[in-house]
Amino acid sequence: MRKPVILITGANGEMGHGLIHGLSKEKNTDILALDLEPLSKDIKDNVLDGVQGDILDIKLLEMLNTEYEIRAIYHLAALLSTRAEFSPMIAHDVNVNGTLNLLKLAMEQAQSQGEKVKFFFPSSIAVYGINSIEEKEKAGAISETEYLSPQTMYGCNKLYCEQLGTYFSNHYQQLSATYSPGLLDFRSIRFPGLISAITMPTGGTSDFIPEMLHNAVQGKSYNSFVDADTAIPFMTMPDAIRAILELMNAPQKKLNRNVYHISAFAPTAGEFKTAIAPYFSNVNLGYDINGKRQKIVNSWPKDVNDTSARNDWNWSPKHNLKSALNEYLIPCVKEFYKKK
Ligand code: SER
Repeated sequence: MRKPVILITGANGEMGHGLIHGLSKEKNTDILALDLEPLSKDIKDNVLDGVQGDILDIKLLEMLNTEYEIRAIYHLAALLSTRAEFSPMIAHDVNVNGTLNLLKLAMEQAQSQGEKVKFFFPSSIAVYGINSIEEKEKAGAISETEYLSPQTMYGCNKLYCEQLGTYFSNHYQQLSATYSPGLLDFRSIRFPGLISAITMPTGGTSDFIPEMLHNAVQGKSYNSFVDADTAIPFMTMPDAIRAILELMNAPQKKLNRNVYHISAFAPTAGEFKTAIAPYFSNVNLGYDINGKRQKIVNSWPKDVNDTSARNDWNWSPKHNLKSALNEYLIPCVKEFYKKK
């Protein structure tokens, strides 16, 4: 008998940690966790099996296909935007070919189980590309269908994989005589920048905000690589995890799209600095602008209009900036570094 599980790739990452803790609280959920590195201690106890390996390793995926009955896949493994600019071909391999391998695995599982397999894919505001700061100001909170001209390899990868997932969900084998739509139930969220109190992102271009917070709490000086007026949307990691669980639990007939964007608050770097300063005794935060990374952040929208997510699956962020700081970020980040 194959073991029924849900598969999480990139399990050791920022989002993997939060999602494994969130999913392990749901009933009847055995998690199979996959990561390049050995599974970190704090999630080991929450999973049925941990596998160390690469999403590009076809033999490994074939082994998972024979040993497990995979009911849903949360495919989180990816190279983030700054890292991807330094190694664009590797990023393409991991972000696109890796995703294609997982989509294929999901469809093979659906065929053998005779039921749709749910697939969650975290996308990003990096799928958008706005050409000038004037245009960004004018555009304000954009909709899902505007400005889809990414300026980074990561953004291109995410946009294409959204489309692959949507294609496999809605049109795969459309010319075959035995065509029946829907081996896959593909759902995706374009996340804004994410802020966690207990983990730091690696290789992202929205990292200036989490880096400010984590350096401030440790009493370390930090210079933001974008200027004080720079704004993109952000959200706390717990809100992001809750969004994934809510979207994945929503009835399919309520969903009018495969891909949604969501938002919670959108401070400028300067506003964030001012907001966190009173919580720490000796804050030393400044700016040392990296023109190239600034240009990437400038191409991302100032905010997004998340009416579709609010209407279709009742999305609503728990935290605005003030409550995010008071109720989650500040107490948890202080606790986290006290324990270290
Ligand atoms: N946080 C991502 C990055 O900076 C964007 O979604 O790459």
